[in-house]
Amino acid sequence: MTEQKDWIKDLVIYQIYPRSFYDSNGDGIGDLPGILQKLDYLEELGINALWLSPVYRSPNDDNGYDISGYQEIMEEFGTMEDWDRLRDACRKKGIRMIMDLVVNHSSDEHPWFLESRSSRENPRSDYYIWRDPVDGHEPNNWGSAFGGSAWEYVPERGQYYFHYFSKKQPDLNWACQELRDSVIEMMNWWADKGVEGFRVDAISYLDKPRDFPDSALPPRPDGYSFPDCLICRPGTHAYIREMNRRVFAPRNLLTVGEVAAPTVEELGNYVKTDREEFDMAIPFVLPKTEIDTWSPERLKKEIEESYQAMKEDGWWARFFSNHDKPRQVSLYGDDGEYWEVSAKFLAMFLHSLPGTPYVYQGEEIGMTNVKLPSIEDYDDPSTRDQYQQYLLSGMDPEAALAQAQLESRDNARTPMQWDGSENGGFTSGTPWLKTNPNTRDINVEAQRQDPHSVYQCYRKLIALRKQSSTLSRGDLTFLETGHPKLIALTRSAAEETLLAFHNFSREEQEIPASLLEGADEVLLSSYDREGGYRGPLLRPYESVMFRMRKD
Ligand code: NOJ
Ligand code: CA
Repeated sequence: MTEQKDWIKDLVIYQIYPRSFYDSNGDGIGDLPGILQKLDYLEELGINALWLSPVYRSPNDDNGYDISGYQEIMEEFGTMEDWDRLRDACRKKGIRMIMDLVVNHSSDEHPWFLESRSSRENPRSDYYIWRDPVDGHEPNNWGSAFGGSAWEYVPERGQYYFHYFSKKQPDLNWACQELRDSVIEMMNWWADKGVEGFRVDAISYLDKPRDFPDSALPPRPDGYSFPDCLICRPGTHAYIREMNRRVFAPRNLLTVGEVAAPTVEELGNYVKTDREEFDMAIPFVLPKTEIDTWSPERLKKEIEESYQAMKEDGWWARFFSNHDKPRQVSLYGDDGEYWEVSAKFLAMFLHSLPGTPYVYQGEEIGMTNVKLPSIEDYDDPSTRDQYQQYLLSGMDPEAALAQAQLESRDNARTPMQWDGSENGGFTSGTPWLKTNPNTRDINVEAQRQDPHSVYQCYRKLIALRKQSSTLSRGDLTFLETGHPKLIALTRSAAEETLLAFHNFSREEQEIPASLLEGADEVLLSSYDREGGYRGPLLRPYESVMFRMRKD
């Protein structure tokens, strides 16, 4: 029986999207020396693990999620020596370094692919997924996640290759043992260099059907259909277990899978201890689906279900934000009138739950969505594709832009807002993506000096989690409040019980008196600027956390 790792319960993980974090040399692109310069800031925030989105060599068709050299650093980000310096500095501060690992696909500029595409007979011929044309066309009707067909023709081989993402991201063929050996060798090379964990990208798609049947899903506006049999394949789990056996387990690494898991059972298949796959999973949901379907009730139901399913033998990655989602305060809170309280509210809600909290860069100062003036201002390939799909479906350009703005992954990718100057102190040059103009009001410099800022709320929450094993390990119980938008919960351990109320709405909500029995010291309030908790009638987006009296 495999033991669950206890130390992962003490982590608070900060995700850096390096391109947008801090530019040290004025070329408009964030870089590794920039991260090094801001390490004191992260230490002050209190986090103890850093997840770096990809920093490997890449032509940047998908901002580094298209790797052309797994053992090299992207030139724009710096050198391997810069990476070594960052690793050493992290180690000194007790910050674990976690790298993004993209091995469902590589770049089409990776030497493996260049070789593989050159002929049918070469040592890497089988490293990618090649199929003959069917009646002179693509092998099936599958559409890529970024638009158009999932197949691209290569005349040198007279065959198509499969790409679930863009055509510059050909899928690796995990059925090929030599490919698996090459990937695992590369992972061990990074582990030897001191990487302490991996966040593994798009892991649910590793195994492919041999016969590639047509998808039965209805066609999208571009005429292609999303694949209907790519996820929940036992073969994928077998490949992950091989990775675990050959890389993760012998080195006691932290492992996080980014997964497409339509049910709690499937989520459990990735993270339950005896599965020997990952320590925790980041479920992927399309931004549009999340915007259209989320509600406080559903959120609570999902948290409760996955808690019950995994409390004995699993663990949770807790996040509201990452580089693939709109900004959390714009999506789940209120980026207008209640901007500050709702940003604190979301932080307090998330940090009151069991599981390892993730903080995505800028979340800790309440960064918001942006509306860039034209589709040309957007860099994200999936935003440009969504815009096209909307036009094809008959929307007028203005409506299509408005919809794309709402969903765009670039909402989360605008430069980090360090100060109130035009480019937010991110670069002395021209930023690769426009800075959100609200950097005048929302920035690190202002919030570090303000005892009641969103940033200070995050600092307090992170510090509290470090002191309180009730928060990091206690049991979770949701209490019935009689109102779906008022969420009440306790976290309890042998010595202590914490009680939290979260008003997930723009209306006042009354806490039933019976639920307040035993509530003692107020530990935190999202209304600290206004004097803190003032009674059971909670204000919009009010969160309060109590310690219960010991009887
Ligand atoms: C998931 C990553 O988080 C996303 O940014 C990327 O576009 C796809 N996988 C493809 O690698
Ligand atoms: Ca730079």
